[in-house]
Amino acid sequence: MRKPSECVVLVTGASSGIGRACAVELSRRGHTVYGTTRRQPLAIQAEVGRDLDPSHRLQFLQVDVTDCHAVQDAVDHVLSETGRIDALINCAGFGSAGAVEDTSDADLRALLDTNLVGTLRCCRAVLPRMRLQHSGTIINISSIAGRMGIPFQGGYSASKYALEGLSEALRMEVHPFGVKVVLIEPGDFRTEFTERRQITSLAKANETYAAQMRKTLSVMEAEELGGATPEPVARLVGRILDTNSPRVRYVVGPFSERIAAGLKRVLPSKWFERILMMYYRIGGNESGRENKT
Ligand SMILES: NC(=O)c1ccc[n+]([C@@H]2O[C@H](COP(=O)([O-])OP(=O)(O)OC[C@H]3O[C@@H](n4cnc5c(N)ncnc54)[C@H](OP(=O)(O)O)[C@@H]3O)[C@@H](O)[C@H]2O)c1
Repeated sequence: MRKPSECVVLVTGASSGIGRACAVELSRRGHTVYGTTRRQPLAIQAEVGRDLDPSHRLQFLQVDVTDCHAVQDAVDHVLSETGRIDALINCAGFGSAGAVEDTSDADLRALLDTNLVGTLRCCRAVLPRMRLQHSGTIINISSIAGRMGIPFQGGYSASKYALEGLSEALRMEVHPFGVKVVLIEPGDFRTEFTERRQITSLAKANETYAAQMRKTLSVMEAEELGGATPEPVARLVGRILDTNSPRVRYVVGPFSERIAAGLKRVLPSKWFERILMMYYRIGGNESGRENKT
């Protein structure tokens, strides 16, 4: 018989980084976990399985979250094997870099299609069963960039701000059905996110922002590559699944970034902007002067 602590969990984007750490942590906690990847699922399963005992239950399914049929097929597969779905952890996502002016419609659509609409597709696919069960938890991995616009990551920040709004609304809508919705806002962690970050198409051709973008990106990349591995996010996810009444959002990451999230709430916007500009080494007209030389 299923113990109350044993859940059936679907983790999207479980082949690497935060999603992989969640899949491993939740399997170790005794949950039955289905992870998704666009890559070859058996190969990923063999690789991730090295971190687990044979008794742990982790199975990989091939899903691109931009494909609603693939998402529905994965949920149907989970339901056909287990008859229930207790948690959905939406980790699938990617980053992008480029000035807002250098972000094309296609760049932004691609980001939103995965980071926002991909998450929505997964929520839509699990909600009918969760409502029927009158239980379930959806955890959406947002970002600190969903609390503050990060320079040269405007499209990415927009995708995470939108995810925050969507999740807040969904949380209230499904509350009467016993379904919980939670946002996690990670700071910088060392994952494949940095090397897979996509440079916007126009940024490759336009020199206007190139020098400043390199400077700002180098600060971000140093933080990410020098950051911790993502197990703290996975442990937080594990604790949230054990909580009866989880908070709306949780910030997890380095102390300085958790402080920044707090400061954003209390400081006048212009003061906070100055701090961010100093941090990301954006000064006066400096980039304009640099570009002329
Ligand atoms: N690392 C950080 O510092 C950080 C900070 C804040 C927020 N986040 C957020 O955390 C989430 C996970 O990122 P990560 O750091 O773990 O990066 P990662 O190591 O690159 O992992 C991203 C995962 O998303 C999957 N993915 C990407 N596009 C997909 C698509 N269209 N359909 C299905 N799966 C897709 C990838 O799987 P396949 O390529 O195998 O399909 C991979 O498993 C993202 O939403 C990111 O925005 C990360």
